[in-house]
Amino acid sequence: MAELMDGKLVSALVLDKLQARTELLKAQGVAPHLAVVLVGEDEASAIYVRNKQRACDRIGMDSTVIRMPGDTTQQILEDQVRELNADPSVHGILVQFPLPAPLQEGPILALIDPTKDVDGFHPANVGRLMNGLPAPVSCTPKGCMALLDHYNIPVSGKEAVVVGRSNTVGKPMAVLLMQANATVTICHSRTQNLADHCRRADILVAAIGKARFITVDMIKPGATVIDVGINRVDGKVVGDVDFAAAQSVAGAITPVPGGVGRMTVAMLLSNTLDAAERWIASSLCSSQ
Ligand code: GUN
Repeated sequence: MAELMDGKLVSALVLDKLQARTELLKAQGVAPHLAVVLVGEDEASAIYVRNKQRACDRIGMDSTVIRMPGDTTQQILEDQVRELNADPSVHGILVQFPLPAPLQEGPILALIDPTKDVDGFHPANVGRLMNGLPAPVSCTPKGCMALLDHYNIPVSGKEAVVVGRSNTVGKPMAVLLMQANATVTICHSRTQNLADHCRRADILVAAIGKARFITVDMIKPGATVIDVGINRVDGKVVGDVDFAAAQSVAGAITPVPGGVGRMTVAMLLSNTLDAAERWIASSLCSSQ
């Protein structure tokens, strides 16, 4: 039976450490502050934003949620982002995606001040990640790496297969695994012989967005399986992996819920604290 990689437990440990850092910053007179912009009425987005707010409350971090109507124009949304960029009390900005049509996500993520980009989606930060420079890193892949680290799962020299090539998860996940010296394959909707690729994986990351897409026959015995999927089926939340069958073959596996999702939120708060700490450091430098 696979070892359960418990995102609930590991994220709680991370949040405890972040709480201590938050208290330290507050003692220096800076209250770390995350601003989240939520446009429209998407139910899943509203739940994700509530989870982020609750996590902020838990560690004593300030959070503001700016709710905008679904018919908000691109111009008004961009003005809101500019206002947050200019607000010195805000250290992290997150615009919740997906945005309702016809709003364009690309111009929004490029407009967010890269030093406040706690999603790690700004092109400058993506470029820095690609070049191996310090940068805020996309929260879900960062959370997956933290889980691997917590459970002492070796990555260097291992075969890693990432299924899914999104800018937000698949691509940065592949880069982080490569930087940790894994041999990485990215699979996607046009990949031929997908199951053969998956069966070679020592570390299999499922980020496709299709419920129970990864079946037990696609998993090498003993492999580590990380399930990034959050899909709603008959009112239940399930991942991209057929968990019930996979746990009898995998060496370690993340559950859904209670796996990667919790880690994503913890990493968002970690990126916000990093931003607040950088802000203090730069304001100390400029005052000298
Ligand atoms: N929607 C779902 N996940 C995310 C995320 O990590 N960041 C943003 N901005 N939107 C999301």
